[in-house]
Amino acid sequence: MKNILITGVNGQIGSELSEKLGALVGLENIVGMDLRPATPPYQITHETVDVTKKEALRQVIEKYNIDTIFHLASLLSARGEMNPDQTWEVNMTGLKNVLDLSRGKNIKIFWPSSIAVFGPTSPKENTPQNTVVDPNTMYGITKRAGELLCQYYAGKFHVDVRSVRYPGIISYKTEPGGGTTDYAVEIFYEAIRNKIYTCFVGGETCLPMMYMDDAVRSAIEIMQADPEQIKIRSSYNLAAVSFTAEELTAEIKKNIPEFKCNYAPDFRQKIADSWPKTIDDSCARDDWNWQHEFDLAGITKIMLEKLREKLKL
Ligand SMILES: NC(=O)c1ccc[n+]([C@@H]2O[C@H](COP(=O)([O-])OP(=O)(O)OC[C@H]3O[C@@H](n4cnc5c(N)ncnc54)[C@H](O)[C@@H]3O)[C@@H](O)[C@H]2O)c1
Repeated sequence: MKNILITGVNGQIGSELSEKLGALVGLENIVGMDLRPATPPYQITHETVDVTKKEALRQVIEKYNIDTIFHLASLLSARGEMNPDQTWEVNMTGLKNVLDLSRGKNIKIFWPSSIAVFGPTSPKENTPQNTVVDPNTMYGITKRAGELLCQYYAGKFHVDVRSVRYPGIISYKTEPGGGTTDYAVEIFYEAIRNKIYTCFVGGETCLPMMYMDDAVRSAIEIMQADPEQIKIRSSYNLAAVSFTAEELTAEIKKNIPEFKCNYAPDFRQKIADSWPKTIDDSCARDDWNWQHEFDLAGITKIMLEKLREKLKL
C-alpha cells in the first residue's frame, strides 16, 4: 500500500477511511476520487472523476502510479431503488472498470459488498457465509453480481481483490448516503436536536450494525493480511452487533431519558425485512483474525458524545 486510490472518497466510509489510511501511509500517498469535488477537511489530492468512465479512471491510476484501490463509489440500497438503472451502471460498470484496469498490474483492490446480498429466503438468524442469496433490491443484485465478478477476476486473472459484506455502518462525521440502515444514524442526530425521532422501520426490526472505526479497521486489516489468509475471494460475512430499533431507542434513553421514538415504516421496511438479523462471520474471524470492538452501549456513548461536540449542543 504505497500509492492508494479511494473512489467514492466523499462518502460516509471514504471520508473516514482516507483519514485513517493517511495516518498509516501519509496523506500525500492518498488520492481521493469522487463525482463531487473534495469535501474532507484534511488535505489529500482529489480527482473529480466518474468511476464509470474507464479512460478517465485509467488516467488517474497511471498518473499517480496507483498500487492499491479502495473502491467505494456506489449507489446504496434505498437510493438505488429510486434509480435502478443508474445503480446497475455505477455499481457494476464501476467495479468492472476497476477490476479490468488492475489486471496484470499488481494492483490490490478492496471492494465492499453488503448484507444486502441476502434476500427473503436467506436464513435470518446467524446467516452463514454460504447460503441462499436471493437479493430483491437492485443494490443487492449488484453486490451479489459484484462478489461473483471479484471471485472470477481473482481466479482467472489473479487480481488480488478482497471484500467484506458490511452491515449497516454507524458514524458521526459524514451523514449516510441513502441506505436502509440510515435510521440508526439519524436517530442520534434527532435525539440530540429535538429529543424525538420518527423511525422509518418498525421498533422490532433487527439488523446487523457496526461502528465506523470497526468498519474502517476491517478494510485495512483484510488488505494487510497475507494473501494465503484470504480464502474467500467473493466476499466475507462481517459482523459486530445486532439490535432492534427499540433496543437502540432504549439505549439512547439511558442517556437522554426524555427521548421518544415513533415508528412509521415506509418502503425501506420491506428491504430491512429481507435482510438477516444476525450474521455468522466466523470465516473472517478464523481466516484473518477479524474482531469487532464496539457494542451497542459503546456505539451509543461515542455517537452521543461526538455528535454533541459536532452540533455544539
Ligand atoms: N454505509 C453503509 O452502511 C454501508 C453498508 C454496506 C456496504 N456499504 C458499501 O460501502 C461503500 C461506501 O459506502 P458509503 O456509505 O460511504 O456510501 P456513500 O453514499 O456515503 O458514498 C458513496 C460516494 O460515491 C460517490 N459516487 C457515486 N457515484 C459515483 C461515480 N459514478 N463515480 C465516482 N464517485 C461516485 C458519491 O458521490 C459518494 O461520495 C459502498 O460500496 C457501499 O455499498 C456501505
